Amino acid sequence: TWTMLNIAEEQIERVREQIGDTGLAICGLSGGVDSAVAAAIVQRAIGDRLHCVFVDHGLLREGEAEQVERDFVAATGVNLHVYDARETFLAALAGVTDPEEKRKVIGREFIRAFEAAEVQVLGEAADAGEKVGFLVQGTLYPDVVESGGGAGTSNIKSHHNVGGLPEDLEFALVEPLRTLFKDEVRLVGEQLGLPADIVWRQPFPGPGLGIRIIGEVTADRLDILRRADAIARQELTRAGLDRDIWQMPVVLLADVRSVGVQGDGRTYGHPVVIRPVTSEDAMTADWARLPYEVMERISTRITNEVAEVNRVTLDITSKPPGTIEWE
Ligand code: XMP
Repeated sequence: TWTMLNIAEEQIERVREQIGDTGLAICGLSGGVDSAVAAAIVQRAIGDRLHCVFVDHGLLREGEAEQVERDFVAATGVNLHVYDARETFLAALAGVTDPEEKRKVIGREFIRAFEAAEVQVLGEAADAGEKVGFLVQGTLYPDVVESGGGAGTSNIKSHHNVGGLPEDLEFALVEPLRTLFKDEVRLVGEQLGLPADIVWRQPFPGPGLGIRIIGEVTADRLDILRRADAIARQELTRAGLDRDIWQMPVVLLADVRSVGVQGDGRTYGHPVVIRPVTSEDAMTADWARLPYEVMERISTRITNEVAEVNRVTLDITSKPPGTIEWE
């Protein structure tokens, strides 16, 4: 609409003014809508002087890394640096089963990986005689309010201990979404031609599939969960329920096994839990009454197509007392 075009143009103009005619900006992409829209706005403002970094930690769902690496790049033309940290994350997560410990490990590794990627970008810029002075963040208006506001000019410090760069680099923050609510961000994303899968993505936790595997995270388990989750999402979409359902985690009970039968064969496989919820803001949630036919298709397809899974269960707990995620 006209209004949204205005919002996009206004933000692009502001970013152009803030960054000016020289200097580079860096932006981390998560696969989510906020960082994607923030990056797209800055790309329109300063073009190739924006360098996006995508840390592939291997905890995203099926197709999500490609959405960033291929579709987002095709739609925006951003300069993308992909940093493959899949092995590092798996190694760091080996033997970790406690939910809080998992979150800590994933958070720590993410910062390390992003900084290592950043060092590469800074190094390349320095070689080219340029300086990265700006860090783009997808902060939304509700985040600004929650953290007590302040003008959009704060500096944050980024610590570097690798590559012989200065210890503390100061970046000026660029926050093109600071005045926007989530629904406005999505509309701006549409106006800027971003892929619908990114713009309309349901909430997905930063630690990704790592906190949807109950038990240790391994490559095999991620692979099982990814296939089951893709089927559940396809069926939700096919039923036209994406916008009615707030989100629908699929959880792999990786340390649990149960007996099943398929054809003539006995199986001893894993259960998955589907957790469809409705919510306004994720603070509270209700378990969603999915139509029986949709649940049936999800169950039949997962047990037919994912050999390691022989049981599909439904979580019928509201929040409170259950959180949306299992960890
Ligand atoms: P819970 O499980 O606390 O989740 O009911 C509430 C909402 O937050 C999402 N979530 C996260 N999002 N980083 C995120 O960016 C996280 O560590 C994280 N943990 C939970 C969850 O998917 C739900 O939408």
